[in-house]
Amino acid sequence: MIDPFGRHVSYLRVSVTDRCDFRCIYCMSEHMSFLPKRELLTLEELERLCNVFIRKGVRKIRLTGGEPLVRRGIMELFRNLGRQLDNGGLDQLTLTTNGSQLERYADELFEYGVRRVNISLDTLDPVKFRSITRWGHFDKVMAGLDAADKAGLKVKINTVALKDGNADELDELVKWCGEKGYDLTLIETMPLGEIDQDRTDQYLPLSLVRARLEKRWTLEESDYSSGGPARYVTVRETGNRLGFITPLTHNFCESCNRVRLTCTGTLYMCLGQEDAADLRTPMRHSEGDLALEEAIDEAIGRKPKGHDFVIDRHQSRPSLARHMSVTGG
Ligand code: 5AD
Ligand code: SF4
Repeated sequence: MIDPFGRHVSYLRVSVTDRCDFRCIYCMSEHMSFLPKRELLTLEELERLCNVFIRKGVRKIRLTGGEPLVRRGIMELFRNLGRQLDNGGLDQLTLTTNGSQLERYADELFEYGVRRVNISLDTLDPVKFRSITRWGHFDKVMAGLDAADKAGLKVKINTVALKDGNADELDELVKWCGEKGYDLTLIETMPLGEIDQDRTDQYLPLSLVRARLEKRWTLEESDYSSGGPARYVTVRETGNRLGFITPLTHNFCESCNRVRLTCTGTLYMCLGQEDAADLRTPMRHSEGDLALEEAIDEAIGRKPKGHDFVIDRHQSRPSLARHMSVTGG
């Protein structure tokens, strides 16, 4: 799959549920209305879609949410997709999780071929953790991290930089990740979906964060790239990688290799645009996959050159109405 700008689409992110057991302040409002269950694709349908994408050249699949591990039966999908690792269909199967269920699932994930997990963690302070996630239990997440380590999963931490939430702690997080052997990626808040407060209040530019971190750490430019939006440096003192995702201050779209599938079968060609393609209808209306393949080709043909996020101080509405939990980051 090659888009109109010559980019190879080899990475599929699948949001398997829009639900989550946390209510992070920058992500959701406290009283979210989620999709009715009947609107969700079944796990079999999600698998069928993934398999079509694999046949069309996808080499890496990430399951996200919401929180992917709260979807009932989700291990079944991991197991079945994991078989594609054995038969050469896929190079990588991975997930992004808040860690709350990892204690239970880490071993099984490893068994099905998952080798890396991205875990969202914004603070090491249990009280702050509670105020950022609203519903999360810090100890559960720490137990999940330990389980991931023990299972042999390589952990990368994702941290959203928040002006009041964790700005003074990012330095400590770099240290902690160094001790634990985790890579760390810092993320700027993105204007996706209505939340209960004004996002501009929490917006913290990573240029500022980086300047502060450089007072204590030697950040060496690195040419490592995950094919994604993060720019990486190596922290000389710890040897671990540190990534910066700066959607608002940078454009990272020219190397974009991914598309995003939601749990209703909608394909988003860009995280920062409204345009989407319905894959559920062509899937349900045909036994074979031809109509589906055509719908995918047509969608890839519309992949836009880039996003245009803005956090506008004069306009409190988000630049996109849908939440991150719909498309999974
Ligand atoms: N802006 C930036 N990051 C967000 N995440 C969720 N919502 C937002 C947002 N509006 C983060 C989560 C997770 C990653 C997948 O996306 O914390 O680390
Ligand atoms: Fe859940 Fe992740 Fe959103 Fe937090 S950021 S509410 S963990 S989906």
